[in-house]
Amino acid sequence: MNSHLLSLADFSQKDLQSFIDRARVLKAERSQGIRHQQLSGRTICLLFEKPSTRTRVSFEAAMYGLGGQVIFMSAKESQLGRGEPLKDTARVLSRYVDAIVVRTFGQEVVEELARYSTVPVINALTDLHHPCQVLSDLMTVLECKGTLEQTRTAWIGDGNNMANSWIEAASVFGFPLTLACPAGFEPDAAILAKARSRGSSPITVYDDPAKAIAGADVVNVDVWASMGQEAEQEERQKVFQGFQLDEALLAQAAKDAIVLHCLPAHRGEEITDEVLEGRQSVVFDQAENKMHIHAAILEHFMLTGRSC
Ligand code: CP
Ligand code: NVA
Repeated sequence: MNSHLLSLADFSQKDLQSFIDRARVLKAERSQGIRHQQLSGRTICLLFEKPSTRTRVSFEAAMYGLGGQVIFMSAKESQLGRGEPLKDTARVLSRYVDAIVVRTFGQEVVEELARYSTVPVINALTDLHHPCQVLSDLMTVLECKGTLEQTRTAWIGDGNNMANSWIEAASVFGFPLTLACPAGFEPDAAILAKARSRGSSPITVYDDPAKAIAGADVVNVDVWASMGQEAEQEERQKVFQGFQLDEALLAQAAKDAIVLHCLPAHRGEEITDEVLEGRQSVVFDQAENKMHIHAAILEHFMLTGRSC
């Protein structure tokens, strides 16, 4: 397996399934009160350039839950904010900690850190990908539906980092994925082309939410303006009219469809309060699963995945 986790397409189905399987065991054990110490004596650094509630706390809780320690550093408070090169930061942090978990803007930042780091680098969200989140989402789908391959998944909204990681997940696991994005807001063309070239699953992009959601077992939404796009918020609100997941749109999915949202949600924009709080929404299970997936990832990369 890879020594860094930068995007889902870098992994085989067996690799990704093993994270989910392990996370499910850790979740069950935690509910039985079983506590672990296998990362005792190990430390991770969380290097975050964007805000976070779930990802930060779930990585920290996961690490502490396995007996390890965490150092959190916001990039603007570090020397990175004053222009220290990524390659120097990577080599210095590698001497102190056992893994680096990064939330940043460009995918090239995590790639550069990984190139120079001698410890695993884990992508905790870039503008292009949110791989750990989508692993938690896949775990949630498996819990609810019992299968990934047999589920029809829909994505409604922006072709953003989450959409890109879902496209990669569909191509690795081979489940059908239909997306509806307004013209000009489609997913990354290169990611889409590469995923389609694997030929494992049909991945279809529409500009009509009704077409994408028809009969879907899993319905995914996310904010219309991601972190870093705040200046476009007003413009996006106009463009994305018609892409809101409300009860009428959800009624066109399968009757027992589940609703996923990685959160934070903007109620009244990409999703209504009724749908987010409704019986089909599993968003808080999804949020919980982040912690179990992160524990499985940390355990794997620190116990077996060190690059040196
Ligand atoms: N879903 C997610 O990544 O949430 P945070 O931005 O709160 O970490
Ligand atoms: N697409 C969103 C996800 C937040 C977890 C963003 O990048 O802001």
